[in-house]
Amino acid sequence: MLEKLKPLVLRITEDSSLPVDKRLEGICALLQSRIPYYDWVGFYFRDGDLEELKLGPYAGEPTEHTRIPFGKGICGQVAVSNRNFVVPDVTAQDNYIACSLNVRAEIVIPIFVQGENIGQIDIDSHTPDPFSEADEAFLEFVCREVAQIL
Ligand code: SME
Repeated sequence: MLEKLKPLVLRITEDSSLPVDKRLEGICALLQSRIPYYDWVGFYFRDGDLEELKLGPYAGEPTEHTRIPFGKGICGQVAVSNRNFVVPDVTAQDNYIACSLNVRAEIVIPIFVQGENIGQIDIDSHTPDPFSEADEAFLEFVCREVAQIL
């Protein structure tokens, strides 16, 4: 399923008739609608020189967490660690920001532009422990393609 989505991701990232934000929105909508256990899909980006993430395009329920300081929550930790963060069970995490009580698991993959961590893709799932290495590899692919249009 994930492999089949790759050409559709490329069709969106390579569509230069759309502004970048619309393309990112399209990727969120694609992933959220096609992957049953991706319930919320969004991008966070570093806000200029601030040590803070700002919510970008997303698909799913609106969230009040539109700004996240570096170090806070799963997203803020990835902003600092530069590493993928796969959370099979959010209740086992101390440093976690709850967006909805329905969320059981989360995965965050950083986006690098010229070696710098400039943001991330964040997926929330209502399914317990749904993410595998295949999700990590697929989302790394998405992040590499997104990095090329930023
Ligand atoms: N759960 C995230 C906050 C962002 S929401 O999932 C959209 C975190 O702990 O950083």
